[in-house]
Amino acid sequence: MSGEPRVVVHPDKQSLADAAAARLVTAVIDAQTRNPEAQVALTGGSMGSAVIASVLRTPGRTAVDWSRVRVWWGDERYLPAGDPDRNDTQNDEAGLSALGLDPAKVHRVAGPDVSQSAEASAEAYGQTIREHGQKTWDVVLFGVGPDGHVASLFPHHPAQRLTDAIAVAVHDSPKPPPDRVSLTFECFERSHEVWFLVSGADKAEAVRAALAPGADRWDVPAAGPVGTDATLWLLDADAASELD
Ligand code: 6PG
Repeated sequence: MSGEPRVVVHPDKQSLADAAAARLVTAVIDAQTRNPEAQVALTGGSMGSAVIASVLRTPGRTAVDWSRVRVWWGDERYLPAGDPDRNDTQNDEAGLSALGLDPAKVHRVAGPDVSQSAEASAEAYGQTIREHGQKTWDVVLFGVGPDGHVASLFPHHPAQRLTDAIAVAVHDSPKPPPDRVSLTFECFERSHEVWFLVSGADKAEAVRAALAPGADRWDVPAAGPVGTDATLWLLDADAASELD
């Protein structure tokens, strides 16, 4: 099942965000029945924040013990804490802090205010994952760029090639800001469930390319991550418009 991506199409961006939020709440409750903590990797972009805002409105969220949820990010823009362009800042503004998470279990990527370099930040994040990330992520959320990038793994970018590492420094990103930290494909292989959240006609070609048989992650990074239990493409109708 994991190798076979499952596509779910919702009419519009809001219904996609609401459905993904309901799924996330259920997945976290399930994970907490199996393990002491649920482990979730969040994403930046407008979909990442839309899902968090929807979680706050999902009635089932009160059934989650949010103090037993460990939160990570699949990537971060290498900017100082609190910068409005950081993924975590945008997720915070969407309501992350209102969920009742334990701040000690919200693992943020160090920015230039507290680390020497993106390399040092990537190394430190990898070490924290080794200590607390256990062997798997329950759910990893990805937005997808119009170029098919996921996290900060861009088409034909050398950062994609790094193996034997959990996190990588990314420089010369084609999308600003140029410096970032991303988890690697190897790290994402630990995921039970991988969910791609994609809205908008500008992503339709990337969605088609990622789901095409034999798609190569070097060309279309979104073709890379696969969950061991499930790989879900949660789309709105516009993002799905190039699929058969
Ligand atoms: C970034 C963003 C980026 C985003 C995708 C999808 O670091 O530049 O996080 O990777 O997730 O471009 O964005 P939307 O969710 O807005 O479609």
